[in-house]
Amino acid sequence: MNLPLLVETEAVSYVIGDGAIEKSFSRLDEFNRIFIIMDDNVEEHCLPVLKQKLPSLNISGTITIISGEENKSIHQLIYIWNELTRLNIGRDDLILNLGGGVLTDIAGMAAATFKRGVQFINYPTTLLGMVDAAIGGKTGIDFSRFKNQVGLFINPACVIIDPIFLKTLEKLHWQSGFAEVLKYGLIMDRELWQKLEGKNYLEINDWSPIISKAAKDKIDIVRFDSLEKGIRKNLNFGHTIGHALESFYLNSENPVTHGKAVAAGMICEGWISSKVFDLECKSLESIVKMIDHNFKRFSFGKEDISQIMELMKQDKKIRDNKQKFSLLRKIGKAVHDVEIEDKMIIESLEFYINRKKCNN
Ligand SMILES: NC(=O)c1ccc[n+]([C@@H]2O[C@H](COP(=O)([O-])OP(=O)(O)OC[C@H]3O[C@@H](n4cnc5c(N)ncnc54)[C@H](O)[C@@H]3O)[C@@H](O)[C@H]2O)c1
Ligand SMILES: [Zn+2]
Repeated sequence: MNLPLLVETEAVSYVIGDGAIEKSFSRLDEFNRIFIIMDDNVEEHCLPVLKQKLPSLNISGTITIISGEENKSIHQLIYIWNELTRLNIGRDDLILNLGGGVLTDIAGMAAATFKRGVQFINYPTTLLGMVDAAIGGKTGIDFSRFKNQVGLFINPACVIIDPIFLKTLEKLHWQSGFAEVLKYGLIMDRELWQKLEGKNYLEINDWSPIISKAAKDKIDIVRFDSLEKGIRKNLNFGHTIGHALESFYLNSENPVTHGKAVAAGMICEGWISSKVFDLECKSLESIVKMIDHNFKRFSFGKEDISQIMELMKQDKKIRDNKQKFSLLRKIGKAVHDVEIEDKMIIESLEFYINRKKCNN
């Protein structure tokens, strides 16, 4: 077994890889008391793993919230604040956030706002959490029908990324996290892309090096642009159209995962990249092939495009009614703040639904 990797940035320490949980013990010493916030599934599947790996951890109390995006809400935030009050948690205590992106988003916000800030450590338990949500200091809740409408940038003291938690993760959530892993390959890490090309996420056995590489990619971006003024915007590749598709399916019988929507968004925004920049047809085709190999296409039709466009305009990244995109110059290199007209966005959605060929 490789030793877990330590990455120290000015703001945060990261422990990444097999054995990271055991390695985290020394970081828990200095605190008065330790409390865990998790969701119901995580309590069942991940708390026993944490206890087994840290047998001498003294847990002073736990708070369990209800799992699911629909519960990333002000109601559950108030519930956590009430529990923190009941447990009389103070600034010398530590909160240990155990869970996926929903949990680290809401519990990070709760910790950061309670008594003007209690320190917390993230232990992500989903693939998406490990390579994305637990890193970078964005916390928040959904509010008034909008995702991540209220929240703050606040860093955890540490992020402990141990793939052992993933053993119980459902396929659907593996697939969702895989979209973000592919995104790092496309926007900044050609080597990672080449390593993954042609593979289906279900065939991958050795996730540890992939998770380490993707997590390091995100750390590299956020350490230079923590507040998303510049290069961090590159992470939005696939997300402008992806978020609109996520909202489009939000109230359907089968709501889709974030990653599945982003994967479709990457096909559309890859096509736009081929029109605006000189992303070669060969590259676009390899992106489309890889995404189709891992994600089933959505079946929305031409008649749904106007609604999808409306949803895109409600996205909070839009200023002066102009759509700004993060696009690819080539595989492994992204650029941000590219203004794109509606006509081209519509054509990209048609490219997606008609399974057209690239014709630069
Ligand atoms: N803060 C950020 O920078 C950032 C970045 C990307 C995404 N996000 C947010 O992350 C959220 C999505 O995160 P997610 O995909 O991790 O979803 P999630 O937190 O809802 O987790 C998915 C499901 O898996 C369960 N689960 C978690 N770990 C498990 C395990 N090890 N075994 C079995 N079940 C487990 C959860 O209870 C949940 O039902 C969204 O709200 C999104 O907005 C935040
Ligand atoms: Zn995302």
